[in-house]
Amino acid sequence: MDHFDFRDGVLYAEDTPLTAIADAVGTPVYVYSRATLARHARVFREALSILPRVHIAFAIKANPNLSVLRVMQREGLGADVVSGGEMARALAAGMPASDIVFSGVGKQAWEMIKGLEEGIGQFNLESEEEGVELAALAAERGLTANCALRVNPDVDARTHEKISTGKAENKFGVPIDLAAGIYARLAALPGLNMRGVAVHIGSQLNQLEPFEIAFAKVGALITELRANGQTVTHADLGGGLGVPYKAGEVFPSPEEYAAMVARATEGWDVTLMFEPGRVICGNAGVLLTRVIRVKRPSNRPPFVIVDAAMNDLARPAMYGAWHDFDAVAPSGEKMLAHIVGPICETGDTFAMDREIDAVAAGDLAVFRTAGAYGATMASSYNSRGFVAEVMVDGDRFAVVADRILPEAISAAERVPEWLD
Ligand code: LLP
Repeated sequence: MDHFDFRDGVLYAEDTPLTAIADAVGTPVYVYSRATLARHARVFREALSILPRVHIAFAIKANPNLSVLRVMQREGLGADVVSGGEMARALAAGMPASDIVFSGVGKQAWEMIKGLEEGIGQFNLESEEEGVELAALAAERGLTANCALRVNPDVDARTHEKISTGKAENKFGVPIDLAAGIYARLAALPGLNMRGVAVHIGSQLNQLEPFEIAFAKVGALITELRANGQTVTHADLGGGLGVPYKAGEVFPSPEEYAAMVARATEGWDVTLMFEPGRVICGNAGVLLTRVIRVKRPSNRPPFVIVDAAMNDLARPAMYGAWHDFDAVAPSGEKMLAHIVGPICETGDTFAMDREIDAVAAGDLAVFRTAGAYGATMASSYNSRGFVAEVMVDGDRFAVVADRILPEAISAAERVPEWLD
């Protein structure tokens, strides 16, 4: 459920017509609904309340906008971060350091030091090498880092290959059959408090079975670790629950997910940690765009050329992802069209041969389900700026990220004098 609905033939975000936002801020612009963000955080948290001890860390990579993080913080969520930049955002949004989990295969020394000095809640170690390095950095400072060992369970998440993370050939975690040995060696190092295991097999999962297979492997590992005399008080089950991108698609609900987790983790006696991203913010945002023109080749479907492009919303170009496209003030007529942006490559295509609301030059439209992995993956390719972001709250809205103009980007560039 989201808060983007038609009223008297015009698409609204909560009580705000998208036309008003386009008039005030211009297009393209990401529009987030505060109510949808808060609702999704709450629904997820309430679904998991059937489990004994739970920690939820919003995966900031899905949407790191400070106002979005502020909504998450107000809903009591912590943060899953994968860089020093994300850590700084979580802290700036007022999330307690102790609620921050630091994941990622390429943590650099400065980032680990920052995490240690801030006193973040947990480092999810992705290799033995990383654990050894963190142990030394912590011990030098007289600190102890709470750690989980991320395992790679070699499970097919049955999602797009570029967002699958739990197959043996993926770079993430340590092979699960080597995990007990690595855990024991890391637990013996000063500076580390090895307290658990972590797993995340991929994103946009549309079924629960792969999770359950992976969690069963993690459960067996926890038993093995304890039999070896290791302490395990935490298990981080990652994120990954998918969302519908096409009207009518059905996905496992947070309640069904929670019931599966309860089944799979029975008797574990740990604090269960979660790192949801997309399921919280995906449907809470749209990318509002304006049709520049409709180009009509004589013998083919027309190209609807919009002012948003692959640099603003990369998912269709990167993953062949589908985003529903709706006119903001639909006439009721339909047309068969290709939807493309202005960028000079064929990859800048949002949809081919799609039946859409009939649109003409100047019309406003949205790409739906753009609240996750949207603005955060933007680039300035073709010397386009960075898209603006707006948050709606009832009948008010605010620009929560300024549009960054191409001139501001080129202002950071220098021409050395030897080129003069
Ligand atoms: N935890 C870890 C360790 C992750 O790597 C990810 C996502 C998450 C949590 C959150 O997963 P979620 O609940 O959002 O599925 N750019 C891609 C998605 C990449 C996901 C990367 N990792 C896309 O646009 O589909």
